[in-house]
Amino acid sequence: MATKAPNPLDSQFYKSADDFFPAYSNIGLTYDDVTLATLYSEILPRDTQLHTTLADALQLNIPIISSDMDTVTESRMAIAMALNGGLGLIHYNMPERQQLSEVSRVKNNVHGLIQDPIKVTPDQHIGEILDQIEKRRFAFSTFPVVDGEGKLAGLLSSHVVKPRYAKRKIAEALTPRAQVHTITKKELGSDPIARADKFFNEHPGIHKLLVVDDKDRLHGLFTLSDIERINAERNAQFKPARDSHFRLLCGAAVSATRNAFGELDRERILAHVTGLVERGVDAVAVSTAHGHSKGVGETVRMLHQEFPKLPIIAGNVTSAAGIEFLADCGANVIKVGQGPGSICTTRIVAGVGIPQLTALYITSRAAKKKHVTILADGGITKSGDIVKALTLAEAVICGGIFAGCPEAPGEILELGGKLYKQYRGMGSLAAMKSGSAARYGHAAADPARKLAPEGVEALKEVSPSVDRVLAQLIGGIQSGMGYLGAPDLSTVRTRARFIRVTPAAQKEATPHDVVEWKTGS
Ligand code: XMP
Repeated sequence: MATKAPNPLDSQFYKSADDFFPAYSNIGLTYDDVTLATLYSEILPRDTQLHTTLADALQLNIPIISSDMDTVTESRMAIAMALNGGLGLIHYNMPERQQLSEVSRVKNNVHGLIQDPIKVTPDQHIGEILDQIEKRRFAFSTFPVVDGEGKLAGLLSSHVVKPRYAKRKIAEALTPRAQVHTITKKELGSDPIARADKFFNEHPGIHKLLVVDDKDRLHGLFTLSDIERINAERNAQFKPARDSHFRLLCGAAVSATRNAFGELDRERILAHVTGLVERGVDAVAVSTAHGHSKGVGETVRMLHQEFPKLPIIAGNVTSAAGIEFLADCGANVIKVGQGPGSICTTRIVAGVGIPQLTALYITSRAAKKKHVTILADGGITKSGDIVKALTLAEAVICGGIFAGCPEAPGEILELGGKLYKQYRGMGSLAAMKSGSAARYGHAAADPARKLAPEGVEALKEVSPSVDRVLAQLIGGIQSGMGYLGAPDLSTVRTRARFIRVTPAAQKEATPHDVVEWKTGS
């Protein structure tokens, strides 16, 4: 790519990160304190690439991760994030077994072949299945029917999964085995998607194809809608983030849990992560408020020893020493941010924390030396903040931006004619009581001890779907890259030029002296 040589006058004002940040070593800066200078460009926003490598085994197609918070990321959010090319980190404020099944839901979501479809048995009643659909929020109502040995007995079609038939046994209502379309594992060949696609072309009106082995045991299920979505994906600019088995990527948070004696509960942590790995988790995040600490270091070291191939995300830190410590313990990806989050009160309660952009500069330089990557965690409220974060970090973690989406857990509340969803800090009293106390260094099992909350419970106005929120954010990132003349994210990091802005300039940067009528979003 042809680039113009820097103009000396520009260089006097618009500085590279290594010239800019050290010149402000006596002050903490955050997103709104700086702006980026435009640079000569031959790049159209729509042609920019947003893939990012966080670790050898962890690559995303967009640099955005949804936060491991109990009002942000469960399986629905993680599926939406991965389908858009990003990643969701499933929170840990739930029983470990439930977290395992949330991960399974993501890993089993849309694939060419659903390897572990939800099955029913002939002796169940349709009413039980209706209850399950409601309780487990299934978005489908057709189920393979298998007998006690796992052999295919038929298909329970959505046409009969109705309250009217609740008292009937599945055996009376199923489509019999002989009428169910199946294919054997061997017949799938080397390109199962193409094979299934061909089948659906040849059988108009049939939406399910079941896979069986030589003994007629069920081994999977193709659905027409999945195959169509996969075909559509092939043409999409930002492809879903998938593993080598074509399953969606999924991360999960783990806690540095302590036992009754206050020691790290090694057995419990190892058993939990073993379960996550068995379900195909792509990364675990040791998520705490203070990552530069003994317990977090020991947890990361133990996980790195036991699961050397599993990408480990750890944090949070805001210092070079914190990065070096976690990298030496075996972390691959390090979360940066102490107190920037929209629901955080750490800086007010504890008096500590570093404005986010300064923290990102310091940690990014330490990370480079240690060959680890960093995530800008918290404080992102607009796409411009993401562009600024990506001048230093490999990806961002967002909580508040996604908390109002329908894919976030929680009910919609109506207040004064407006619709809201709950959004709470993992260090808020309510969240710590639900399990996240260890993240903030408090003993969860000790109700007598007063917890000092470091986060608030809040509401977010209901927002559009994750697809639409991400489309806006990605559009903004791509515009920023166009202005910087950067075709990809690594060029964003080398080309960015910064200048400090004043409060008057911050005012100038937002709509002013007008009555805002439409936001354009
Ligand atoms: P945003 O700004 O995206 O921030 O809403 C999400 C990030 O904030 C962190 N987090 C907390 N920090 N007290 C804190 O000091 C809390 O209660 C709290 N809860 C979450 C976390 O890093 C998250 O990704």
